[in-house]
Amino acid sequence: MKSKIIDLIAANVDALTKDEISELIEIPPKPELGDYAFPCFRLAKAMRKAPQMIAADIKAAIAEASDASFIDEIQVQGAYLNFFIKKEIFVKSMVDAAFDDNFGASDMGDGQTICIDYSSPNVAKNFHVGHLRTTIIGNSLYKIYSKLGYKVVRINHLGDWGTQFGKLIVAYKAWGDEETVKKDGVGELMKLYVKFHEEAEKKPELNDEARAWFAKMEQGDEEALKIWQWFKDISLIEYKRTYDLLGMDFDYYLGESFYRDKTDDVVKRITDAGLLKDSEGAKIVDLEEYNMAPCLILKNDGSSIYATRDLAAIFYRKETYNFVKCLYVTGQEQKLHFAQVFKVVELLGNDWAKDELIHIPYGLVSLEGAKLSTRSGNIIYAEDILLEAISKIKEIIEEKNPDIPDKDETAKKIGVGAVLFNDLYNQRIKDVSFKWEKLLNFDGETGPYVQYTYARCASIIRKLDGYTPSKDVDYSVLTDADSMELLKEVSRFPKVILDAAEKYEPSVVARFAVDVAQAFNKFYNANRINVEEENIRNARASLVYITKKTIKDALLLLGIECPEQM
Ligand code: ARG
Repeated sequence: MKSKIIDLIAANVDALTKDEISELIEIPPKPELGDYAFPCFRLAKAMRKAPQMIAADIKAAIAEASDASFIDEIQVQGAYLNFFIKKEIFVKSMVDAAFDDNFGASDMGDGQTICIDYSSPNVAKNFHVGHLRTTIIGNSLYKIYSKLGYKVVRINHLGDWGTQFGKLIVAYKAWGDEETVKKDGVGELMKLYVKFHEEAEKKPELNDEARAWFAKMEQGDEEALKIWQWFKDISLIEYKRTYDLLGMDFDYYLGESFYRDKTDDVVKRITDAGLLKDSEGAKIVDLEEYNMAPCLILKNDGSSIYATRDLAAIFYRKETYNFVKCLYVTGQEQKLHFAQVFKVVELLGNDWAKDELIHIPYGLVSLEGAKLSTRSGNIIYAEDILLEAISKIKEIIEEKNPDIPDKDETAKKIGVGAVLFNDLYNQRIKDVSFKWEKLLNFDGETGPYVQYTYARCASIIRKLDGYTPSKDVDYSVLTDADSMELLKEVSRFPKVILDAAEKYEPSVVARFAVDVAQAFNKFYNANRINVEEENIRNARASLVYITKKTIKDALLLLGIECPEQM
């Protein structure tokens, strides 16, 4: 419908291209203002005429046009042209579009690759709630871009290299034992790490020992690497438990260690470009001109650091995947780090760095108001949060609906979904708080509410004897205000996905899901579905069917599954 209106306007307005017209067309906030609106302010400048007069002229010209028969009425209101589409035609076009299996999908990304670097926990440390955020947001961006036809490469850039492993080896050798590490996993490794810092306060020479062990790792010492690999394996087992709960996966686990033989090349590139500078024994790239602290490349003992390995990873990824974009999902405290690294890439003669390397920051997490961090001793494992959500939901199910099938599977979908939805509902840069009562509520702007609406749709359809989903229905049945409202909400889906992708903002999809659920519940309160008249029943059932399908697809873009019953 929109493109038809664009054609009509374009045929009667010379001053704007079709693309410009498309940009200007709005969907009015209230049905009284029509289905589409076209503001004439911009034309007023070009045509040196009052916008109201321009609107009236366009209206008159379109009224003559033969291909305007799908329009019921055009109203001039202020500087706006408001288009009212013939209801049945409008309904048909929306039903047709939403019925399509690929509704919302696009081929705009065909043949193009996007890398997403996300989750990336630090080996020998717990997978905490901050990492839960990057995992959830990164996974959603993966789904969103895949839907738009991009090939997405999911990369888990594990923090698995660095001097901390030298410390850990020293601590393990001094105070650890194999049995306890095997039994307690990451928990024990974290204890050893803390112990190292306590002891090193008293005995600073421990730091030299740690440096020596890390140097051994860098030189490929067999014993050092064997212990390190073991710590890594233990950590990965725990992380994978969390990924399994979330139903998420990666294409590559390529941690920092993968780039250790690729940092010399980075240093060479920077040296060749004449950008490597000495600074108190260390090597840096000066970024003062860009109002940034220098980017540290080599420490004074010659070892590479986080940034060096990120630089190596960028060149590796560009060569290996030839990405059109590489996205980094981390907390906003890493803003400077990425700005520095991206700038260095650009200064090395890679202009693409400016548009193709993108940091996607997000806000902090708090639990019922309390800040979560490892340092305050308030260690919260993401896994525990997910398990707690599942068990709380299980209790609710046992109490309210103990007879549904697959109780455990259902509790998992709802519990995990609730955590994900809570994380994704607000703009990612905002802080997220975990308030159990709020996020597990079946009412309000929550995952369970949207899933419940889905299950309600599913149950309506299940109970309709002999109904097979079809888009060939009596469109006049769906011209009442509530049905139209619901259809219009659902119809936004393709645009919502584009918006979410453009802003790297899954919250756009989460909000859409709530809007559709609310519009559905309004429709459902006003309209009986299982009525005698077959034309009415089938038309309404098809609207339920479309709603159900769209909610499911929207939640899938957030990484959330819908149970059929709850
Ligand atoms: N391991 C880091 C952390 O936990 C995140 C890594 C993000 N990715 C990157 N390429 N630097 O903070």
